[in-house]
Amino acid sequence: MGFGRDDAMALLKEWTQGESLRKHGMAVAVCTESYGRREAERLSLSGTEAEAFSEQYACAGLLHDMDYERHPSLEEHPFVGVAFLREKGWPEPMLHAILAHADYSGTPRESHLDRALFACDELAGFLTACALVKPTKSILDVEVAGVKKKMKDKAFARAVKREDITGGAELLGIPLEEHLGNCLRAMQERAEELGL
Ligand SMILES: [Fe+2]
Repeated sequence: MGFGRDDAMALLKEWTQGESLRKHGMAVAVCTESYGRREAERLSLSGTEAEAFSEQYACAGLLHDMDYERHPSLEEHPFVGVAFLREKGWPEPMLHAILAHADYSGTPRESHLDRALFACDELAGFLTACALVKPTKSILDVEVAGVKKKMKDKAFARAVKREDITGGAELLGIPLEEHLGNCLRAMQERAEELGL
């Protein structure tokens, strides 16, 4: 087994039967991958190096909740998944990010990948919720202004922690609006794949 996007996708499908949790992993992955591409550019990486760099971001997104269906408790998620992935030899920076996405893990958010995964997790869920209330149920009909409005509506997608979205933008060092736009565009570009 390798450590690429296809391997991560296969693991996600193996561990997660639920369609919505699978789709959540995929949605987070397209968002984190877009930040990986940006960061690769900032680091002046190119070619296969840049591709491998952003692929690790995609894999972190795909796998961050991999164990959640089987092991949803705070004692087990994401520790069981990370232990499995570590045993298989997946790269440590990705495992660090998966641990750090959980507030209670005790793993601090240090690297850009750690910060990107945390920043995209709740937002990808929120953007999905924004799409699903559209008559078309399509992410293509979602706009940043509408997302901002919905963030203020406490009754909408109540489980999504707004402070994780705003805190994520802060962690990435960009304005909230830019973060919303980045993730929205990333999901729109791959709407078909995400079934949105
Ligand atoms: Fe998640």
